Amino acid sequence: MKKHIFKIGNKETVVMFLEISELFNFNYKNIIAVFDTNTRKLFPAVLPVTEFVLNPGEITKNWLSIEGILTKALTSGLARDSLFVGIGGGVICDMTAFAGSVYMRGTDIILVPTTLLAMADAAFGGKTGIDFLGYKNMIGTFTPAKEVRVCIDLLNTLPEKEYMNGLGEIFKHGLLRDRKILTILDTKYASVLNRDRDVLTELLERSIFVKAWYVEQDAVEKGLRAHLNLGHTFGHALESVSGFSSVSHGEAVVWGIIKALESGVLMGVTPPSWLEEVRAIAEKYSYNLITPAGITPESLIAALKKDKKKKDSSVQFVLQREQGETFLSPVERSVLLKVLGKRIIRES
Ligand SMILES: NC(=O)c1ccc[n+]([C@@H]2O[C@H](COP(=O)([O-])OP(=O)(O)OC[C@H]3O[C@@H](n4cnc5c(N)ncnc54)[C@H](O)[C@@H]3O)[C@@H](O)[C@H]2O)c1
Repeated sequence: MKKHIFKIGNKETVVMFLEISELFNFNYKNIIAVFDTNTRKLFPAVLPVTEFVLNPGEITKNWLSIEGILTKALTSGLARDSLFVGIGGGVICDMTAFAGSVYMRGTDIILVPTTLLAMADAAFGGKTGIDFLGYKNMIGTFTPAKEVRVCIDLLNTLPEKEYMNGLGEIFKHGLLRDRKILTILDTKYASVLNRDRDVLTELLERSIFVKAWYVEQDAVEKGLRAHLNLGHTFGHALESVSGFSSVSHGEAVVWGIIKALESGVLMGVTPPSWLEEVRAIAEKYSYNLITPAGITPESLIAALKKDKKKKDSSVQFVLQREQGETFLSPVERSVLLKVLGKRIIRES
């Protein structure tokens, strides 16, 4: 069993790579396990826990679900020394950890991520929460899980679209701090797409180490951690303009990464060769790097401005000088208009 221990704020998170048969070994008297209807099906057996099963998807990431989890915990006699376990994608992990973080002022939380995105990103790092009044992740806490239990075999049933979502975040981690991730994505393309266990284990371990480098230094997102938003500022704008359905999150993030690098090239801070290297890997995985038809640069710029809700300052974009050299900067409207058009910016 592979095991890594990280310190996030004043708490420890242990990340473990386990077999399915090991996932439900818990040392607690009272346990509530939260699933969605898809992730509950991954475990056909009767489980030695109190269960709470939600409908799948972002639509359930709300107060009502939290109230449901907390009500079930209370009526089942859970106390502060009980355990909240989230078994699912990012939605279930974020909500279970949020519910656990406020139940009787906080219980232990263990997360069992079942999507590639939750394994590479959502389950680790301490951000919990729900959507509120139409804004994503507007309410929540910073509460790291005590353990994150990763079981690669759970990915066997994951739909292709969800798999590609998670791969987008791993790609981002490679750009941020681990060139070996990019080399694996580039050279082991078939194994990555075939969900090869060993290749995925290495990608996920490396990915978690990259995220850990940021969250261990900046547990509550005061600065450095913002680099993890590479591709997300542009990506959220695309998701929001396209109505959060036609473009998947992972696709939007990879598109956003290319837009960030193209902005850097036009601003003279990013070498065109770096943009081309990144674009070549993204194209290999058939990510759509062109702004979809019918979406105008102006509508995307309007969405980018709306996205600054969580900060009082102007929109800061995550840009790169090179692999591993990341910084925040505003981007002028004239540059945005160029990169958000359909034309592909290439080395001149
Ligand atoms: N806390 C963080 O740091 C953080 C980071 C990134 C994303 N997030 C959050 O994560 C959420 C997105 O997570 P997601 O992409 O995992 O989506 P998700 O949780 O909605 O899961 C996607 C779909 O896959 C299904 N599914 C999950 N595991 C499966 C499996 N093994 N087999 C078959 N189907 C399976 C789910 O039922 C769902 O329909 C967003 O709400 C986002 O805000 C949080």
